Amino acid sequence: MQLQLGLIGYPVQHSLSPWIHNQFLEKAGTSGTYSLFEINPDSFEEEIKTLKTRELNGFNVTVPFKQQIIPYLDELDRKAEMTGAVNTVVKRGGRWIGYNTDGAGYVFGLTETYPTVSKHTVDSILIIGAGGAARGIYQALADEGFAHIDIANRTRSSAEAIAASGPDSVRTTVLDLTKAEENVADYDLIIQTTAVGMKPNTHDQIMSLERLRADSIVSDIIYQPITTRFLQEAQEKGASIQQGHTMLLYQAQYAFQLWTSENVPIDDMENQLKEKLE
Ligand code: ATR
Repeated sequence: MQLQLGLIGYPVQHSLSPWIHNQFLEKAGTSGTYSLFEINPDSFEEEIKTLKTRELNGFNVTVPFKQQIIPYLDELDRKAEMTGAVNTVVKRGGRWIGYNTDGAGYVFGLTETYPTVSKHTVDSILIIGAGGAARGIYQALADEGFAHIDIANRTRSSAEAIAASGPDSVRTTVLDLTKAEENVADYDLIIQTTAVGMKPNTHDQIMSLERLRADSIVSDIIYQPITTRFLQEAQEKGASIQQGHTMLLYQAQYAFQLWTSENVPIDDMENQLKEKLE
């Protein structure tokens, strides 16, 4: 059987997903294709209806359609429902089922890089940003049993909405960015989820890490550049860093597992991906 996979988004031409999934197909010994479907947002509904008629086994969804795809699905997985965004669709028995692998992908990447990270070793977490990515990561960390996850965001109400969606087992305080800067030494793990600092605006930085503790871990989910200014400052403070390409890789690994039931190893792909991004 020839597996037919792909990606919908706008734009998608520079996506690294074809490279990643073609490697997975090869590693799994599965023949298949991973196609790019660039959909103009103005003709989204029409294009999705056409896509429904294709023999696709599954596809990824990227910006700006992660929310827009939801009304066209037959079923929504719990994590996708809680996140309010879908990045992976699986066709099963002719039905489209929506998943979100971003948050779990972040956590897989983190624990692969830092195997000692667990709910027992990390007491307090700060998430910066309150968009779709932040929501997915918050849910995934809550699912892993992390009990103290604060959120700092420019717009307070978005952070409050995420905090309100969390289980009772998680304690969350919402902060503004200035307060987060002042209190940064309170956190064992700090996760930057906004687009601030992304190419071409690589000099931008969401907040200062002046007061960071050297024994903290700092993540940025941006992967272009591979080391953001935020991560550079974390390194200067002697902290450990987690770059954004790992989330990209592990969310894809989880999506591939949903499509094929194969858990393909990442092996050397992380270094190869880093080289592509550098
Ligand atoms: P995604 O779904 O990829 O996470 P998003 O939903 O657009 O992206 O969320 C973007 C996040 O980056 C938000 O937290 C946004 O803050 P607001 O909620 O205040 O809009 C944050 N963000 C984007 N640009 C920002 C900037 N210049 N300064 C501070 N925060 C910014």
